[in-house]
Amino acid sequence: MAITESVYGDLTAAARRAAALAYCPYSRFPVGAAVLTGSGAIVAGCNVENASYGLTICAERNAVFRAVAQGPGRLVIQAVLVYTPTPQPTAPCGACRQVIHEFGPDAELIAICDGPAVIRSRLGILLPDAFGPGNLAPY
Ligand code: THU
Repeated sequence: MAITESVYGDLTAAARRAAALAYCPYSRFPVGAAVLTGSGAIVAGCNVENASYGLTICAERNAVFRAVAQGPGRLVIQAVLVYTPTPQPTAPCGACRQVIHEFGPDAELIAICDGPAVIRSRLGILLPDAFGPGNLAPY
């Protein structure tokens, strides 16, 4: 189901607010992500870096994990909107695509920035033939 203009606006506002809270002293590349759940809730996350660089968590995964922890029940991801304060939009990294797939194999993915360019796609297009819960089901 396509999201409405009003929900698009709410996702944008939530992702922008989250980006402003990003902890990114090493990359200086703030990212905000907003997850739209199956029940219409919006849960946001920002990237959180660490002095041990590899422990950094991306905004998208932070938002997904927050949505799982918030409940209620099993998370279904309808859409994820990513905001970066950059001239070009940033699509979710491969690890984040994999994590989004777990809860939203058909999720809409939107990436916006400070310029006019927008990436609007679907998880199944950005991560085709993904490995997921269905692969484990027969075993
Ligand atoms: N980052 C995200 O939050 N999401 C992405 O999809 C790409 C990268 C973060 C991780 C790191 O804090 C910074 O951007 C630079 O890689």
